[in-house]
Amino acid sequence: MTVITEIEDLRRLYRRRVPKMFYDYCETGSWSQQTFRENTTDFDQIRFRQRVAIDMTNRSTAVEMLGQEVAMPVALAPVGLTGMQHADGEILAARAAENFGVPFTLSTLSICSIEDVAAHTRKPFWFQVYTLKDDDFMQRLMARAHDAGCSAIVITLDLQVHGQRHKDLKNGLSAPPKLTPAALANMATKIGWGLKMLRTPRRGFGNVIGHAEGVSDPSSLSAWTAEAFDAALDWDRVRQLIDMWGGKVILKGILDVEDAKKAVEVGADAIVVSNHGGRQLDGALSSIRALPAIVDAVGDRIEVHFDSGIRSGQDVLKAWALGARGCMIGRAFVYGLGAMGQAGVTRALELIHKELDTTMALCGRRTLADVDRDILLVPEGFEGRWA
Ligand code: GLV
Repeated sequence: MTVITEIEDLRRLYRRRVPKMFYDYCETGSWSQQTFRENTTDFDQIRFRQRVAIDMTNRSTAVEMLGQEVAMPVALAPVGLTGMQHADGEILAARAAENFGVPFTLSTLSICSIEDVAAHTRKPFWFQVYTLKDDDFMQRLMARAHDAGCSAIVITLDLQVHGQRHKDLKNGLSAPPKLTPAALANMATKIGWGLKMLRTPRRGFGNVIGHAEGVSDPSSLSAWTAEAFDAALDWDRVRQLIDMWGGKVILKGILDVEDAKKAVEVGADAIVVSNHGGRQLDGALSSIRALPAIVDAVGDRIEVHFDSGIRSGQDVLKAWALGARGCMIGRAFVYGLGAMGQAGVTRALELIHKELDTTMALCGRRTLADVDRDILLVPEGFEGRWA
């Protein structure tokens, strides 16, 4: 058995254990995947300042995100189809998150429904909403999230239209998977995955099936997205949704200073600087390059969170030092889930925590409150001069 020392170990195990269709769904970006790649390679350009002979005892990574105490500034990102990566995946990931003391975000396009996750967890989770054309569905979705005790909603703003990921089309991605000869041949090599999947009743889009009318084929993500998602979404509609919810709101998918300012104007509580993990606008700036200007523009008026490219606690620390007050991890937890179920998600969180804590110490800081831009060496022109 491999000794798991880094997130990459989990990814390798995940790749062996989960059908190709779902591995590819997770591990892909749109079109040429430039933004997907740069989300991680741009992190590598930033270095730390090593400091020594500073008392390193009594360290803590605990902070608050959205007024909620967390063990470290990390939340599990909303990831569609998580329950296809491992049977009952959303429930398992939510449990790992609550035991660790970080927020879990349930995707609208989850396999386990809001009610199901609430019934199998003890703490409130965050709920991510896609903006759909069907207003009745949206009202019911928000009411269901309220009834389930969700403590915030995350409105995804960067998926009004679907960025093409070639592999999903080639693999015929769907939930439950269509049993084509190629898919069957591949699944036959993923016995553990298949047996668990056969034993669970949760195999379709739990928040949608039986709740949305006029959805002809909810199994096909891209077809359903094209049919149901509200391509007309604008800031007035965002305002309406904020009012409809009436609680804490995080706007996800902000990559531009002008949009960050709009998010402040409409009264959001937080934003997530994100390019959807490089899955939407290929050729967009990496999130980590976009972060500093957004923090400069709105960081004193709104809580700025970050996602896209986090694969380690070192990445979390870099984002924190550049002003992010929380990081969402998507792929990093899905690797753990696909590799080892709930224990794998816990392992991913432990790895990230250890890396964060040790790196903070070696930079000469004991708490995240003491960490600022000063711990970093950022190459000149890192953000880029774009005209
Ligand atoms: C959905 O949000 C996706 O990126 O597939």
